[in-house]
Amino acid sequence: MKDAFGRTIDYLRLSLTERCNLHCVYCMPSAGGCSSTRAVCTLEELVELAAACVALGVKKIRLTGGEPLLRGDILALVERLSTLHKDGLEELCMTTNGKLLAEYAAPLQAAGLDRLNISLDTLREDRFRSLNQGGVLSRVLDGIAAAEAAGFARLSLNTVLMKGFNDDEIPELAMLAHGKPWTVRFIELMPIGPAAAMREAYLPATRVLELVPELQLMQDAHAGVARLYTAPGWVGAVGLISPMSCDFCGQCSRIRITADGRLKLCLHAAEEIPLRGLHGAALQQAIQAAVQRKPARHQLAEFQPSQSIRPMNEIGG
Ligand code: 5AD
Ligand code: SF4
Repeated sequence: MKDAFGRTIDYLRLSLTERCNLHCVYCMPSAGGCSSTRAVCTLEELVELAAACVALGVKKIRLTGGEPLLRGDILALVERLSTLHKDGLEELCMTTNGKLLAEYAAPLQAAGLDRLNISLDTLREDRFRSLNQGGVLSRVLDGIAAAEAAGFARLSLNTVLMKGFNDDEIPELAMLAHGKPWTVRFIELMPIGPAAAMREAYLPATRVLELVPELQLMQDAHAGVARLYTAPGWVGAVGLISPMSCDFCGQCSRIRITADGRLKLCLHAAEEIPLRGLHGAALQQAIQAAVQRKPARHQLAEFQPSQSIRPMNEIGG
């Protein structure tokens, strides 16, 4: 699928639930958790939406949340979606907070999931607990170990950069890619949801290069929106994701579908197109027509708050 600016749209981020079992301060609107009462799509609806996108040329699907592993039917869903490989799907991925991964890693691999991204903002138990209001870091680290043992070799670890919170851990986090074929991705904090009030915590991703000077830009330097770096003797890579300081909208290849079945053309735009109730050719036409209205870029660079009407846990990043 091409949009009106000639961008190839081949990446779908599919949110499976708005609920989460962690409450990161920059993501969830309140410590009380997710208050949304929207009815989420059924397994059948999700498969139909995903299949329509694959028929239109989507090659990569990422399952997001909230926390995708909170869906009771997650393994059945992954199994069904992995059959789309025969229709042109190249990669079925998931972003998870890792809390339930120790139990789920092996079954997810068996169900046909190709890749995992795991959020890891800190390596300090006390910081982790304060960041998400009660989580246990060791469970996430157990989850990462289980993912590796289950055969997810090229893991991605996502770190949201926050000044005064985890900037002193940047070298330590980056070094996770020294001995393993992992990508440690540092993400600039975006002003969406509660993070819109955290302007003072924003840190440009280039800070990573100052703190880990041995990093060098890789030949094949772009993996989606991340610029990839490595260093002599390292097995893995460091990815810098700069939605704020570096405009990557020109290469944007993604669309999103929320857990309640609404198409979002840009993470930061207010527009949502309801897709539920559409089937077959009508569903495909609605997606294709909407993609023609995908905006050229977001307006975040001046730390304008996101125009999204939802916080991150309701979109999936
Ligand atoms: N800015 C940047 N990244 C964010 N995430 C959640 N909220 C924000 C924000 N305001 C990240 C999570 C996770 C991914 C799904 O999105 O940490 O890695
Ligand atoms: Fe949950 Fe991820 Fe949001 Fe944290 S950032 S509250 S783990 S959805």
